[in-house]
Amino acid sequence: MVVFTFPRKIIIQSGILNDLTEILENENIQNALFVTDDFLYNLLGKKLKLEKFSLFKDVKPEPSVDDIERAFQNLKEKNFDAIIALGGGSVIDFSKSLALKFSYPDYNLRELNPFENIKLKIKLIAIPTTFSGSDVSFAVVLSDKNKKLPMGNYSLVPLIDIVDPEIMPKNEDLIRSTGVDAFVTAIEAIVSNTSNILTDALAEKSIRIVYDNLKDAMDNNENARENLTIASIMAGLAFSNSGSGLVHCLGHSFGSTFHIMHGTSVGLFLPYVIEFNVKHEETRKKYERISGILDSNIEKLVEKILEFFREIKQPVRVRDLNINEKIYLEKLDEMVEKAAMDSELAFNPFFVSNDDIRELFIRALG
Ligand SMILES: [Fe+2]
Repeated sequence: MVVFTFPRKIIIQSGILNDLTEILENENIQNALFVTDDFLYNLLGKKLKLEKFSLFKDVKPEPSVDDIERAFQNLKEKNFDAIIALGGGSVIDFSKSLALKFSYPDYNLRELNPFENIKLKIKLIAIPTTFSGSDVSFAVVLSDKNKKLPMGNYSLVPLIDIVDPEIMPKNEDLIRSTGVDAFVTAIEAIVSNTSNILTDALAEKSIRIVYDNLKDAMDNNENARENLTIASIMAGLAFSNSGSGLVHCLGHSFGSTFHIMHGTSVGLFLPYVIEFNVKHEETRKKYERISGILDSNIEKLVEKILEFFREIKQPVRVRDLNINEKIYLEKLDEMVEKAAMDSELAFNPFFVSNDDIRELFIRALG
């Protein structure tokens, strides 16, 4: 079975944040709650004609179940017909959870799962300010007493995704990290054991667009930056319907341990994971296809990617990030454990042991 979910509308237009009136009118939205965080409110609040909205601007990074319950208790008397989430993954996941509470006030968010038949009674609109993929996906990540709860339900895919390239990251490091993340995410969406023709079509195109545009986007070429935006959405749609894999498990673990940006972390581990995964016959065929997209061949795929990464100054060894080797090795057990517990590991095409993970972490030292 193939189930493919995505927003009913994806609108990509520079400057659209300045006037959301038409979109809201078309949807017959009268009483929307705008959800964001303090930083973004200060940065972008002026662009929004806020007299039209109610505002909640207290979303904190990695929102907890308790944060959402508290916000809901304060807001539940208002009859909102829509939630508009302006922000990164935390704001969007917060908004998805809040929309669920407005629809089912007694709902226990800890029990959210993909198999339940849920119907939101409130419209959900996402305006992403980073490329978390949450704006096009059914996934929700909440925290609960220091535990991460990766959950999801198809009813939580935003109805409309409004992408304004003007408010997307413009600084070189953020663009690099964004582009590398889209590149890795698209590759993993293909390698994943639940990929299908629909997800492959999006991922394959995304890989090539990133490859062709990332350098120029980092040099602030506006057209390249818009192309990169679209490629990131395509990668997000692909992976949210097919999963990611081992690179993301290593990247999540390493990134959260050493506070390294997501894209930088996953990019670092990509070459090592390809060398590891390629020995699996079925997966090798997928990498052959990926090599073709990059005008290369399977023997030269890793070298081709390393060359691309060198050109855009994406680190490929832990040492490149000035991380002390001794501290890295001290954290090794913790990192292996975190990576092994990551839910994305289930999408790698074959079983990966803790020893395999350990070896990959050691190889990445360089
Ligand atoms: Fe990613």
